[in-house]
Amino acid sequence: MSGLLAGKRLLVTGVITDASIAFSVAKIAQEQGATVVLTGFGRMSLVERIAKRLPSPPPVIELDVTDPDHLAALPGKVREHVDGIDGVVHSIAFGPQSVLGGEFLNAKWEDVAKAIQVSTYSYQSLAVACLPLMQQGGSIVGLTFDATKAWPVYDWMGVAKAGLESASRYLALHLGKQGIRSNLVSAGPLRTMAAKSIPGFEQFEDAWADRAPLGWDLHDTSAAGKAVCALLSDWFPATTGEVVHVDGGYHALGA
Ligand SMILES: NC(=O)c1ccc[n+]([C@@H]2O[C@H](COP(=O)([O-])OP(=O)(O)OC[C@H]3O[C@@H](n4cnc5c(N)ncnc54)[C@H](O)[C@@H]3O)[C@@H](O)[C@H]2O)c1
Repeated sequence: MSGLLAGKRLLVTGVITDASIAFSVAKIAQEQGATVVLTGFGRMSLVERIAKRLPSPPPVIELDVTDPDHLAALPGKVREHVDGIDGVVHSIAFGPQSVLGGEFLNAKWEDVAKAIQVSTYSYQSLAVACLPLMQQGGSIVGLTFDATKAWPVYDWMGVAKAGLESASRYLALHLGKQGIRSNLVSAGPLRTMAAKSIPGFEQFEDAWADRAPLGWDLHDTSAAGKAVCALLSDWFPATTGEVVHVDGGYHALGA
C-alpha cells in the first residue's frame, strides 16, 4: 500500500468517540497505509463499537495508563497483532472537575495529582512501556493545549499540559540515541468529550474562530490528525522535542 505512513505500525491511544482527536489520527493513518492498533480505557465496548467505524476496524487493547499491570502487559498484547511498532500516539488527558473551571485556588492536591498522573506522567510511562516494541527507533506524538499561557477555566489542566510539554522535551533528550523522536501537536479547541467536560470551555471557543488568521472549526479534528500523522511519518526525521501548533495561527498573535 502507498501513502505517507505505508508500512508503519502504530499504537494509538485515546479513542472514546468518533469526535476524539485520536479517531481522526487512526482514520488518516489507515488511509495513509499504516497498520493501527488501538488502546481503550474503561468503556471498552464503546471503544470497540467506535473502532468499527474506521476504514479497517483495528484490534483494541485495554489500557489504563495509571495501571502498572496494564502497562507491563502492553508489549505482549501488542505483539499478538504486530511484531513491533514504529509510532505511538498519546491522546490522553483527564482532570477532576475540582481542578478546572475557575477552581484553581481551591483545588486539592489529590485531585491535581490525578490530573498530572493521567495527563503528564503517563506520557513517560506509555513511552517506556512501548520501548521493547520500538527497537528500530520511531516516533512518539502527544496532544497539548498551548501551555505557555494561562487560559480562563483551564486551570490545573494548563499546569499538567506545561508539564507534558516539558516531559516531551525530556523524552526527546533520553530517547534520541535510540532513534526515537518525541513531539507534540498543540491543537486549538475542539468539541470532544474531554473538552465538553470543562465547565466554561466555550468562553474561548468563539474567540478562537473569530481571531485565528486561518479561522477555526471546533468540530474538525482532521487538521490535528494530519499533523500527528506527519510527525509519525519519515518526513520529520530531524525534529524532536518540538511543539507544532495546529490552531489556525491563534498562538502567533498578540492581544
Ligand atoms: N479537545 C480539545 O479542545 C483539545 C485541544 C488541545 C489538546 N487536546 C488534547 O487532545 C487529547 C485527546 O483529547 P480529545 O479532545 O480527543 O478528547 P477525548 O475525550 O475524545 O479523548 C480523551 C481520551 O483520554 C482517555 N483517558 C482518560 N483517562 C485515561 C486513562 N487513565 N488511561 C487511558 N486513557 C485515558 C479517554 O478514554 C479518552 O479516550 C488530550 O490530551 C487533550 O488534552 C484537546
